[in-house]
Amino acid sequence: MTAIDRDIIGRDHANDIDAILAMRNEDVDASIKVVQNNADSIFTWDYEKGSRPRLNKLYEKAKHSMWDGETDLDWSIDVDMDKVLEDMRPVAEFQDQSLRRAAEQPGSPLKNWGDKEWFELGREGLTWQLSQFLHGEQGALVATAKIVETVPWIDAKYYASTQVMDEARHVEVFAKYLDLKIQDHYPVNIHLQHLLDDVINDSRWDMTYLGMQIMIEGLALAAFGFLHNMTQEPLLKKLLRYVMSDEARHVAFGVLSLQEYYQDLSLAEIQERQEFAFESALRMRDRFLRQEVWHRLGVDDTREIIKFQLEAPEEEKEFQRLLFSKIVPNCKKLGLLDAGEGWLRTKFEEIGVIQFEHLESTDTEYADFALGAD
Ligand SMILES: [Fe+2]
Ligand SMILES: [Fe+2]
Repeated sequence: MTAIDRDIIGRDHANDIDAILAMRNEDVDASIKVVQNNADSIFTWDYEKGSRPRLNKLYEKAKHSMWDGETDLDWSIDVDMDKVLEDMRPVAEFQDQSLRRAAEQPGSPLKNWGDKEWFELGREGLTWQLSQFLHGEQGALVATAKIVETVPWIDAKYYASTQVMDEARHVEVFAKYLDLKIQDHYPVNIHLQHLLDDVINDSRWDMTYLGMQIMIEGLALAAFGFLHNMTQEPLLKKLLRYVMSDEARHVAFGVLSLQEYYQDLSLAEIQERQEFAFESALRMRDRFLRQEVWHRLGVDDTREIIKFQLEAPEEEKEFQRLLFSKIVPNCKKLGLLDAGEGWLRTKFEEIGVIQFEHLESTDTEYADFALGAD
């Protein structure tokens, strides 16, 4: 067996439902979580600022792009969650196509569902999604603090330090929105937690970049954009727009740094990065199965529902696929799609997301996300 034929995160195949269901967050009441960080902290004595001009440019831009969630967002806006959900209903119905088919199956746990239950799914789904954004933002806060310590380049340390501040603001505004406007939240999804663990555990600094800057933040940028387009709620819309202006820069930071670093890696090392990228992709896809929402809605047997979602026809998976619209072109830019006989390309074909490879990569499009650019 070659390195690239081995099982992915201990599974028989990508849609291994037993493996997906076996994972649960057993620690939902804990107030802290300890994750082992195995990386060295690195000092550099080469202080020459701007020796990596594109990172330096990002750093200079970041210093002037800081907004303030307390004063730039109008927290006095009254949020009527029923109206928010009503506005999003057509999109939610489109997104839930495979679930609605599942409800029609004999013996389905959703067979008695009416309008009220589907509406509740929308409410719980949004609460769940914003909660996972919040936890992901804290992951980014911790991961970029780690990058400040572990990356050996001064321009990257400078830039990463601005990102730490950005992520603090992101955690702050999502936490405040959930607390004030939704007054509810979900604990971290187990698949997201495993991914954050991988990002923090790894001893190699570039793996933190790949997992966080390219995969998690690439997905976040697409997911924020989707919700930003979908919602008419002015506070959430502006909050997402502000966060996205930072996230695009963060993803660009990942692409620019890894592009340089990967040039000197061996094929075997690149193959490890391909596997890490695909494992991260699977964990993020599994996160969107929203197991916690089903449990809260009283659906204990989620196997059939998850099976329907995983095996839905391609045309019903548009939302899921959109989440990869930033990740795939950025992986391509890094040379990860086609190295090693195109292993990652084949994997992305299998999960139906390869069509995004021709979109613009974020290192060139990030300026379009700047505040005032639209
Ligand atoms: Fe963020
Ligand atoms: Fe970020």
